[in-house]
Amino acid sequence: LSAEKPFHPFPLLEFQGVPLRSYIVDNWSSISAFCPDPSDLLIATYPKAGTTWAQEMVDLLLHSRDMDICKRAPTNKRMPFLEIQPYPDLPSAVFVSSFGFVIYVARNAKDNVVSYYHFERMNRYQPEPGPWEEYIHKFMKGNLGWGSWYDHVKGYWKQREKQNILYLFFEDMKEDPRREVVRIMHYLDLSLADDVIDKIVQLTSFKVMKDNPMANYTFIPQAILDQTISPFMRKGEVGDWSNYFTAAQSQTFDEDYTKQMADVDIPFQSSL
Ligand code: A3P
Repeated sequence: LSAEKPFHPFPLLEFQGVPLRSYIVDNWSSISAFCPDPSDLLIATYPKAGTTWAQEMVDLLLHSRDMDICKRAPTNKRMPFLEIQPYPDLPSAVFVSSFGFVIYVARNAKDNVVSYYHFERMNRYQPEPGPWEEYIHKFMKGNLGWGSWYDHVKGYWKQREKQNILYLFFEDMKEDPRREVVRIMHYLDLSLADDVIDKIVQLTSFKVMKDNPMANYTFIPQAILDQTISPFMRKGEVGDWSNYFTAAQSQTFDEDYTKQMADVDIPFQSSL
């Protein structure tokens, strides 16, 4: 892997207990000074939980009268990253409550860690993932960029009602994408015709988004995201973790999961 990925320009620095890319920490004062308009929408996720998918659904819902507009620019230009990816205590911060709309996407831990592992293999801005066996432990300890998955999904879960957060699951989006598009539509206070909703579901299918140059991250140079190592639109499935976890790894992970998630009952599905 080192030969494929010779540099990592942004080392992780621990900031308020969360490892973050150094530039995020360096820019913290301007990031925290960002003042959203009450009509602004925040899409928040742990890395690799379905950010791009939710972004595409939202953009199409907002431009349903002329969906070609959604080809106007790459995903990260249409919906810029605040580069602060929410860390555990963010939902309670004044920051989140100042957004009029907050959509959170959560993905089951095992598929999330597999997806993150492959992302770190192909992304030169992310640290070297190292061996899979060790990677699982880094994930369990929260020693990856943007910190602990457990704290992340729990933080938003606990605040979801108070902050009017629409809490979505990647697995639900796979199971019944139309139902989830409709949920987002209602949350955004929109009402679209059935055939328009059908079109959005079609345009946000894995196959279509994988071929969409404005959504598949081929707009980032190969020197940064090397999609020959692993494509950004990799598999888009639920349950791919079973191709990576050994029985022993799965048991260790599950035991730790039970402890870390003891204080909540978030209905994750790790297979469909
Ligand atoms: P995999 O690596 O498991 O394939 P993010 O956008 O937060 O970085 O998440 C990326 C993950 O979401 C990848 O998972 C990617 O394939 C998946 N994904 C993106 N668009 C999708 C879609 N339309 N349907 C299913 N999965 C999708």
